[in-house]
Amino acid sequence: MDRPVTWSAPGKVIICGEHFVVYGVTAIAAALDKRAYCTVSPRDDSVIRISSKQVGAAEWRDGELVKESSKGVGNRLNAYHKMVSAILASHDRRKGVNVVIDSQIPRALGLGSSASIAVATAGALLDLLNVSFEPDDLAQHALIAESEVHYRPSGIDPAVTTLGGIIRFKRGVKPVRLEPPAPLELLVIETGKTKRTSEMVRKVAQFRELHIGIFDKLMELVDVVSQEVELAILNNRLERLGSLLTVNHNVLRIIGVSTPELDDVVDASISSGAYGAKLTGGGGGGTVIAVASSQNLKRIYEVLQRSYSVRRVRLPQEGVRRESSPVIV
Ligand code: MEV
Repeated sequence: MDRPVTWSAPGKVIICGEHFVVYGVTAIAAALDKRAYCTVSPRDDSVIRISSKQVGAAEWRDGELVKESSKGVGNRLNAYHKMVSAILASHDRRKGVNVVIDSQIPRALGLGSSASIAVATAGALLDLLNVSFEPDDLAQHALIAESEVHYRPSGIDPAVTTLGGIIRFKRGVKPVRLEPPAPLELLVIETGKTKRTSEMVRKVAQFRELHIGIFDKLMELVDVVSQEVELAILNNRLERLGSLLTVNHNVLRIIGVSTPELDDVVDASISSGAYGAKLTGGGGGGTVIAVASSQNLKRIYEVLQRSYSVRRVRLPQEGVRRESSPVIV
């Protein structure tokens, strides 16, 4: 183990079923075109050094934070440090590593930035250690980091980031890749307002405690939405898909994870001609996805672009992969 190894993994959007997936409902998610890159190289001492182009650098020796480029950086990178030290320990390695991260995925916008960094890091580290692994091993390792970032992660983010494409995910069941007959184009609209997913997952847990009967009914409803979304994707029924997204958005409003701003983006998308739209991911800020006919997409994109940061993303996109050039920070 002497040469640096680089892996990358994509960000994600949840097409339907976020939050309810934590309680066992089926959800559908897709990998995005923006990726997180991670290079891991060996060290001669026992230090684990993690540096991120976006956040800064920190070093740990025997589990203790010993250095950080500025206050709080160690805290922000600790989830990855925990995962790296757990992987090293499980392979009986006493020497440390340098981990260098460069992520194109904006943080705390519901786009899976933490899961993709964790999956890319796990891939690069296991490769460096010369360990053979299955995609599911990466998703499982990434859950160590995710548990630090999310409160009660369902595992959907590491799963979709690892597998890529569009997946059907249910807790405790092997995820299934869905193959649309033609590329599916989404509008991804960022509000710029960040929010921690853990805070929103806690908020939903409180709503559930207060209204368990209602929550159970909403779970049944979202399960139906997910089944129908899958069929709409597999049959390229965009109008139906869009309208299902709006249904899902309204359920997310009921459980308190939307905001007036997210609702405005959903309304603006629909009034400019989209078939439907919803918040994606944890909510409380973050990102909206919208579906439109291929004829209208360009025009809607141009209208929304006047007020928001919008991207057109073609699905499916590739999952975790090995890269040939290292990340330089
Ligand atoms: C976050 O991308 C999706 C949530 O459902 C949390 C999770 O499933 O881990 C909000």
